[in-house]
Amino acid sequence: MLDRIAEIKHRALAELSAAGSLTDIDDWQTRFLSRKGEVKLLLREIGKLADPEEKKRVGKEINLLSQELEERVDARRKTSRDAELDARLERERIDTSLPSTLAPLGTTHPVNLVLDEICAIFGRMGFQVWESPHVETDEYNFELLNIPKHHPARDMQDTFFVSDDVVLRTHTSPGQIHAMRALAPEPVRVLLPGTVYRNEQITQRSEIQFNQIEGLAIGTDIGLADLKGVLEEFVEQFFGAGHRMLLRGSYFPFTEPSVEVDIDCNLCRGKGCRLCKHSGWLEILGAGVVHPQVLRNGGYDPELHSGFAFGMGVERMVLLRHGIDDIRHFLSGDLRFLEQFG
Ligand code: FA5
Repeated sequence: MLDRIAEIKHRALAELSAAGSLTDIDDWQTRFLSRKGEVKLLLREIGKLADPEEKKRVGKEINLLSQELEERVDARRKTSRDAELDARLERERIDTSLPSTLAPLGTTHPVNLVLDEICAIFGRMGFQVWESPHVETDEYNFELLNIPKHHPARDMQDTFFVSDDVVLRTHTSPGQIHAMRALAPEPVRVLLPGTVYRNEQITQRSEIQFNQIEGLAIGTDIGLADLKGVLEEFVEQFFGAGHRMLLRGSYFPFTEPSVEVDIDCNLCRGKGCRLCKHSGWLEILGAGVVHPQVLRNGGYDPELHSGFAFGMGVERMVLLRHGIDDIRHFLSGDLRFLEQFG
């Protein structure tokens, strides 16, 4: 029996060192150490021995053999795994010095490019950019701007209601009240850019979601002439020298007097074309001298303070700047359009 144990051990170790791959090692383990492997079969033969002392000795030898072979196979498997990993790393070596494929980069949306440019121009004139909420109470969006419930001016700015008294803002003008209430009685010179929402027909020139830039200046003795001077400076910086500007009398409940401002058409220079509907003029904004009641609502005394406000549509400025014929391009997400800017 002891001779057989020695012979199996000799053969097992020789075959283990000859096993070239992990699969060979698995086969070897099945042959020698599994439930039906040679070593386990040896154990069954102990029963045939008559001498109890010999049974004990042989049993111990088989256990020692089994233990040694388990240890050897574990060690062999580890070296074999390491070698296979090294070979694989060598085979699949990554060349980190190769140039990578670049992910496509997005560009700034044309509306945001123009919005930034307009903010920079007014910024140089001392206007500070302010943010105000997109969701407003009816009070801020309408009532504090002299537009009580059932006022006809509400028909011009139908909105989306969050609840009876909470709306998506229809213009950036409620920001005037926020700014005045935060700064009164100090002088104000702020710009309030941002998205506004109107429940209206989508056409070539009108969207239900667009951007406005509100300007507000409050101080002493600020009037229509100051508004005109600031806007002339803006038109010259934005559209270039030589443009004519037209102030037309208009009506907004929160300014008195109110004006709408046109410039001579950027495309035909006043001769008349499709963009300006053959009038030669294009409206760029609404404006006026801040109404005394709005000043009071903002915390200013109209006997001591006065100011001007304006609100321009940013998309319409982009249409003018680039001679684009349809406002619907801006929210279309069409890359063929967007890739032309930025
Ligand atoms: C207003 O919204 C006033 N809050 C502007 C104002 C501010 C007046 C401060 C006085 C003092 P209006 O509804 O005209 O006014 O809109 C202002 C500008 O927004 C328009 O000149 C136009 O350029 C743009 N606009 C209006 N409706 C749309 C629309 N549906 N789609 C795209 N642009 C629009």
